[in-house]
Amino acid sequence: MSDIKPKLRSQQWFNNPDNQEMTALYLERYLNYGLTRHELQSGKPIIGIAQTGSDLSPCNRHHIELSKRVRDGVIAAGGTVIEIPVHPIQETGKRPTAMLDRNLAYLSLVETLFGYPIDGVVLNIGCDKTTPALLMAAATVNIPAIALSVGPMLNGWFGGKRTGSGTIVWKAREMQAAGEIDDDGFMDMVASSTPSVGYCNSMGTATTMNSLAEGLGMQLPGSAAIPAPYRERGQISYETGLRIVDMVHEDLRPDRIMTREAFENAIVINSAIGGSTNAPIHLNGIAKHLGVALNNDDWQKLGHRVPLLVNLQPAGEYLGEDYHRAGGVPAVIGELLAAGLLPHPDVLTANGKTIAENCQDCRSTNTDVIKQVTAPLVDAAGFINLKGNLFDSAIMKTSVISQEFRRRYLSDPANPNCFEGRAIVFDGPEHFHRGIDDPSLNIDENCVLIMRGAGPIGYPGGAEVVNMRPPSYLLTKGITSLPCLGDGRQSGTSGSPSILNASPEAADGGGLGLVQTGDIIRIDLNACTADMLVEPAELERRRAALGTRPFTPDSQTPWQELFREKVRPFSEGMTLDGAHEYQDIARKHM
Ligand code: FES
Ligand code: MG
Repeated sequence: MSDIKPKLRSQQWFNNPDNQEMTALYLERYLNYGLTRHELQSGKPIIGIAQTGSDLSPCNRHHIELSKRVRDGVIAAGGTVIEIPVHPIQETGKRPTAMLDRNLAYLSLVETLFGYPIDGVVLNIGCDKTTPALLMAAATVNIPAIALSVGPMLNGWFGGKRTGSGTIVWKAREMQAAGEIDDDGFMDMVASSTPSVGYCNSMGTATTMNSLAEGLGMQLPGSAAIPAPYRERGQISYETGLRIVDMVHEDLRPDRIMTREAFENAIVINSAIGGSTNAPIHLNGIAKHLGVALNNDDWQKLGHRVPLLVNLQPAGEYLGEDYHRAGGVPAVIGELLAAGLLPHPDVLTANGKTIAENCQDCRSTNTDVIKQVTAPLVDAAGFINLKGNLFDSAIMKTSVISQEFRRRYLSDPANPNCFEGRAIVFDGPEHFHRGIDDPSLNIDENCVLIMRGAGPIGYPGGAEVVNMRPPSYLLTKGITSLPCLGDGRQSGTSGSPSILNASPEAADGGGLGLVQTGDIIRIDLNACTADMLVEPAELERRRAALGTRPFTPDSQTPWQELFREKVRPFSEGMTLDGAHEYQDIARKHM
């Protein structure tokens, strides 16, 4: 063939004059379902579609349809498509937790992108962990890549009110308990929150991570928030297919887009949208695979003071369709740019323009849904990073602390933002459910509930269990929340003011493993510290008494065991030990 473009890595497989035998063997198998030699040998970029949609992954299932439009775009731009199955991740369906599979999907996609003739890839993102898994893989392999959201579900409605997926179940439970709805009403109300294909319509981890994939520059501007069934969703899929072919010709790779500056922007955007506490885990993880240093101190320093602009459930009122109509991610970025709050306006994005070029003229078209910086929902919406003898790092979203909670715990004039409480320690969620209503624990409003054995090793992948309800007898007295801290996570759809993602976890030698029920815990939100007031000698004695593998039940599957041996703490992105040493591998091994 005359018009070979030798820079395409796929031509090593399909058009290698030094090894005709292997070329023939590679070729014949991809011809056998109808591809032609012209499509594989004429220098057309081979574009992978990393397909996360399947019957097992309902949130992403609509990608099966959208990929047809991506394919049309790729072909129109002169490329050839090879669809790539990705290990399924379904947030609500996977036991023990979908988080366990983030690194498995990452590993398998790295092998696929590296080991097969792929020149560029469209990353089909959506449900919570699919976004970080695919961005991490693209970061490691570092071939031209663009993300495509499946889009959120339509708004849920019940009795004339919006019902948000992932968030309505708590409200429905309360109504059922109060006798306002029966068992069928409970099911109907919960099901009303998921009226169509797409990812969760509330501001949980899915909307967070899809918005941040756009904020990082890895999606076409305006694409994260388009609801899955809207016609624009199909249209942006076509545009994404067109664009990835150009990205291959331009050799525009993830490491030129996802720079340290892009991550700093994303931290600011996360605060402005009211993003999930899972975001630091995922962004720290993606950054690590690019060799970009990013830690929880950065999140406090860059994100804590940024105002909350997006009024979505669970913190606010609205849902995904409203977010899109008010302007979506470009409007949020436009508002931040206008106020001078986006630190790096000149970073490059997937469409070849800077984030400022894409968004500087975008503004909220409904300031009830996307607020302006001058009248935000909350002033300081980001996270603080706590430290002490309980852990080296743990995240807290101070903006969700209620007035009642502030009055009860944080209003001592001598010591504002500081409190002490008696520890009640639970070893995992099962222990909590058995123990919380046990009267012999004497839990009162001066207690701090502690959850351990719920981190990446203790509960492989980490459980979303740190927000714990008070005992029933306190609930009936009107005490609806107690201070909680732990080494697990919290659902992005829960708004509790917990201290979570504690690293290192109890199962990894963290101080949480030494705390005992009855110890006094001191939390200081000014100094950002959390400590157990126990003598160092006593702590040493307790440490010596721990077994070899504390807080780690037996693994149930081979992957759980491999994961436990290799996983790094939440604060380091829950990545696999050593994986970050493999970077830019497609180029290194041309
Ligand atoms: Fe999949 Fe929420 S459970 S997006
Ligand atoms: Mg979740």
